[in-house]
Amino acid sequence: MSNPAVTYEREMVPVLFRPWVGPLLELARPVPGEHALDLACGTGIVARLAAPLVAPDGRMVGVDLNPDMLGVAQVQGALEGLDIEWKQGRLEVLPFHEGEFDLALCQQGLQFVDDRAAALGEARRVLREDGRLAMGVWRGLDHHPFWSRFNDVLVELIGIPALAAPFELGDAAELEALLVAAGFRDISIQALAMPAVFPDPDSFVAMEVDVIAAAVPATQHLDARARAELTEAAQSRLAGAIREQMCDGCVVVPMHSHLVLARM
Ligand SMILES: C[S@@+](CC[C@H](N)C(=O)[O-])C[C@H]1O[C@@H](n2cnc3c(N)ncnc32)[C@H](O)[C@@H]1O
Repeated sequence: MSNPAVTYEREMVPVLFRPWVGPLLELARPVPGEHALDLACGTGIVARLAAPLVAPDGRMVGVDLNPDMLGVAQVQGALEGLDIEWKQGRLEVLPFHEGEFDLALCQQGLQFVDDRAAALGEARRVLREDGRLAMGVWRGLDHHPFWSRFNDVLVELIGIPALAAPFELGDAAELEALLVAAGFRDISIQALAMPAVFPDPDSFVAMEVDVIAAAVPATQHLDARARAELTEAAQSRLAGAIREQMCDGCVVVPMHSHLVLARM
């Protein structure tokens, strides 16, 4: 049975997540000596690119609830010779003391958390008095018609809107209200768009289904057989929509994200 976290790191991170780390870190500006936290780190791409910026005297920690994602993060971090601590934990109850960090980063994580207010409260609790929070949060499905169609197909096939969660905190006013309620100040929210270029149209749906099983808690019960059946059924229903996204032999899907910077 394939490990969805391995698929996520190999197939999705280069296309959907790594390209966004540069803009996030430009906004956050980590500097040597800072103590930084990557919230909902997944396989750790943000932590892995931020770690050299806080080195040699800083501290980089990644936290995620999914042990499989953390396992891949640990292996990759070690392969890349990086000094990063990986911790299993929920954003709603962070396993850290008050004021341990200068910077909290969170790329495409907050929208998956059941209690976002608690998660932001916790992010604030573990930041120092002059700390800052930088996040990436996809805009809504109304900005992502292809994923909206894919989501409709998932609802039809398994009754779970598994692709809604990544896009359900897409409203900037809602995001800002959450940050204000948690006590953050000097909040800036900017919109940015970039294309996601998936190089292999033939494995595109299978890969997506695998990754959904890794990143969306409501689908983590799907075993390999259920994922294979879902892939086959989704593939036939999405063939036309995928054809419309084809460009130079790749599936090209425009992505729209909010980038957030907030201070204590
Ligand atoms: C789309 S992935 C993003 C991962 C990573 N930040 C990146 O840029 O590749 C979302 C991650 O959020 C994690 N997650 C979801 N709910 C969480 C929670 N309540 N506490 C901690 N992590 C959570 C999932 O396990 C998953 O690794």
